[in-house]
Amino acid sequence: MRPSPAALVAVAGEQPLERAQAPVTAAAVLDLLAGGEAAPSPASSLPQDGEPRLRLLRRVGIADPDSIDDYRAHGGYAALRHAFALGPEGVLREVKDSKLVGRGGAAFPTGVKWEAVARQPARPHYLVCNADESEPGTFKDRELMEGDPFAVIEAMTIAAFATGCERGYLYIRGEYPEARERLEHALAQARHRGFLGESVMGEGFSFDVEIRRGAGAYICGEETAIFESIEGRRGEPRNKPPFPVEVGLFGKPTVVNNVETLVNVLGVVLGSGPSFAEVGTEGSTGTKLLCLSGHVARPGTYEIAFGVTLRQVLDLAGGVPGGRPLRAVLMGGAAGGFLGPGDLDVPLTFEGARAAGTTLGSGVVLVLDDTVDLPRLLQRIAAFFRDESCGQCVPCRVGTVRQEEALARLVAGEPRGGVETELALIAEVGQCMRDSSICGLGQTASSALESAIRRLPVFEGSGT
Ligand SMILES: Cc1cc2nc3c(=O)[nH]c(=O)nc-3n(C[C@H](O)[C@H](O)[C@H](O)COP(=O)(O)O)c2cc1C
Ligand code: SF4
Repeated sequence: MRPSPAALVAVAGEQPLERAQAPVTAAAVLDLLAGGEAAPSPASSLPQDGEPRLRLLRRVGIADPDSIDDYRAHGGYAALRHAFALGPEGVLREVKDSKLVGRGGAAFPTGVKWEAVARQPARPHYLVCNADESEPGTFKDRELMEGDPFAVIEAMTIAAFATGCERGYLYIRGEYPEARERLEHALAQARHRGFLGESVMGEGFSFDVEIRRGAGAYICGEETAIFESIEGRRGEPRNKPPFPVEVGLFGKPTVVNNVETLVNVLGVVLGSGPSFAEVGTEGSTGTKLLCLSGHVARPGTYEIAFGVTLRQVLDLAGGVPGGRPLRAVLMGGAAGGFLGPGDLDVPLTFEGARAAGTTLGSGVVLVLDDTVDLPRLLQRIAAFFRDESCGQCVPCRVGTVRQEEALARLVAGEPRGGVETELALIAEVGQCMRDSSICGLGQTASSALESAIRRLPVFEGSGT
């Protein structure tokens, strides 16, 4: 977790300049703009540093992220070796048995996706690692990429081996220059040492990875918008079907997986699918990275076994500072939903969150105490969706604007036709976006607002 506030200074031109600094002051930003060097950030520190039970984060802060030898000394590349011994079918079996589901937000079963691509006769197959990490409040993939870059590359290689991909793309958020540098460095070392390229580890399987940078659009984290972006077009989602497993990048069968999903595969292959599934619950196996932020004593990335309660996670992070009362928790980010102080015993699993009317999404846990201006926060979320809608389909393009307008009238205390009428309008617009938007952005653009109205006393007559 980097200290805040943070700034990314980018100056375009023949010799473009880019500097990131955290923590930063206004004077330091001026200095960066004038061409000054960024002060080095303190080393990343995880609140659970060194805990023996960590799986996904076990090497972060321990192994040198710039050294393939240190990675190997900490168990690196043992999973790939084992994958070669299992063969593609064996890897697919273990991943299916693990019941691993995607950590990018949609919770789709990874084994099902991989098998669908592996079975496609069309060639070539492509692999895309979704490292866009665009959901507000999410910073877990960054910890993995900066702290354990070889693990991401090894996991991509295993995924490619199991699904018959010769080429992989790692689509990384543009605002992550440090992670990109680490990964570029790691890719070069892996190539040099025969862990990428022609005949990986002398096993006759060829695979390589190219990094592509996003340019700051939330929508470019959507799996088909990534394809458009990689292919050199504006990042707008495609209609589904056809699904990426059949017609994906460059029109070919494509696996798209989130960074955290992929890194989980190392543990699945090294142990076994069934032993991976022993941790967590029937519907949510393994561990999950959570991004705790807001009014919490020790913000940062936490790894928890699925099934612990929200209360336990808040305790782990030191609770609300100063003993202030908890007002709400936004789960899953801008596309997620609120929980209230009465929901602290909700188990953090995909099914538990769903039953409580919210989502784990990509793992955001944004904690809000009683000082927060909830209506303003909701306005900020509504403005985010209005800004980030790609505008391709009418329900989302118009709906996000109408939603923001109705909210603004409510916040200003000037409801048109009364509070009830405005709340009904928001509900109707939300339903329309859910039912008829092309992609997940429009389908979830009203989730946070509607859950706040449902559960929290934000407006007169709401949350009761
Ligand atoms: C607007 C939008 C933004 C998204 N952003 C991300 C993202 O930044 N990272 C990510 O992994 N998935 C993101 N997704 C989900 C992807 O479309 C896709 O489901 C995911 O990458 C699949 O990988 P997984 O099965 O490993 O979760 C986003 C979806 C939508 C609709
Ligand atoms: S739902 Fe929104 S973001 Fe998605 S394609 Fe339609 S306009 Fe674009």
